[in-house]
Amino acid sequence: MWKAAIEDAVQKVQRNIARFDGRYPHVGEGKQYALIGNDDWTNGFWSGMLWLSCEYTGDPQLREAARHTVESFHRRMDEGTVLDHHDIGFLYSLSAKAQWIVERDEEARQLTLRAADKLMERWREQGGYLQAWGRKDDAAENGRIIIDCLLNLPLLYWASEQTDNPLYRNAAEQQARKSRRYLVRGDDSSYHTFFFNPETGEPIGGATHQGYTNGSTWARGQAWGIYGFALSYRYTGDPAFLETAKRMALYFVQHLPADHVAYWDFALPPGMEQPYRDSSASAIAAAGLAELLDHLKEEDPVYAYLQEGLNQSMTSLVHNYSTAGDDSAEGLLQHGSYHVRGGLAPDEYMIWGDYFYLETLLRLERGIGGYWYERK
Ligand code: GLY
Repeated sequence: MWKAAIEDAVQKVQRNIARFDGRYPHVGEGKQYALIGNDDWTNGFWSGMLWLSCEYTGDPQLREAARHTVESFHRRMDEGTVLDHHDIGFLYSLSAKAQWIVERDEEARQLTLRAADKLMERWREQGGYLQAWGRKDDAAENGRIIIDCLLNLPLLYWASEQTDNPLYRNAAEQQARKSRRYLVRGDDSSYHTFFFNPETGEPIGGATHQGYTNGSTWARGQAWGIYGFALSYRYTGDPAFLETAKRMALYFVQHLPADHVAYWDFALPPGMEQPYRDSSASAIAAAGLAELLDHLKEEDPVYAYLQEGLNQSMTSLVHNYSTAGDDSAEGLLQHGSYHVRGGLAPDEYMIWGDYFYLETLLRLERGIGGYWYERK
């Protein structure tokens, strides 16, 4: 059922190699991608797409391009280019760690471990959290966590597995617990971001960065929560994380419009002039649902409902949002939104949307997940 969509996606990845020519897709500009250097939070997604496509096809050209990206990530680490943020997990899980998972390349493993150490530099012992953005002495940022960070935690869990050093895992688990307690609300919706007193760790309050209001639920944030908590459950076995992933997933699926693809925020006022979708949020949520279903028993009362939610979202993404059949399109998924209120790419391709769409298609078709954890 998913094969045609995968074939189309992989052909686009193959075609894009020459056009991108060592640069990285970030967000769309019409039918093309805006290309950037290896200096943003998004660069790992292209690398991950190359590795996924390489695994699917065995094409040496894809392997070569994927390996080139890891060389570039090596240089980035050596030079410390834009690594003062928590998205080290996105960057290195889908590049160096992917190479380790696919090829058992020791140099790639070592690079991934360096990335985990780099991420640990953001651990704030007094507050007991990973600082999302900014430097330690940045008073506006040094108390902030954000929900997206949950996808950076697999790098730390993995590093503990590899080294037998519990330090990384302890930090990841504390971060996940704190996220569960403060970012997820009583009705299973979520804050995008939360602030603590960096000296004492006292909670201050929730806020948003990319959502509609501080009290609303940014769709992509909710999606990061579904996948992130399901992955924390995979690594820790703590049933609280599974329960939270499940509740956040139910909230997500229950709040979708008729075509099963999310608006960019779940609390947009009725009659809003441009109620943009965020197809990338739905792609991430679908990847998270697939992960969650791996851990739920089929007799769980919500298993069938969530499985249906996953199928409906992916079917709609393929038929209503993908560029399948359009060879002139560079991106895979249309109608993603980056930062609507900030005026950044409210209705374009998002490279992370493309990555999670392809990851989920391959998981549904072939049973292989992405590069968040070691395969059995
Ligand atoms: N992690 C940044 C974003 O989702 O826009």
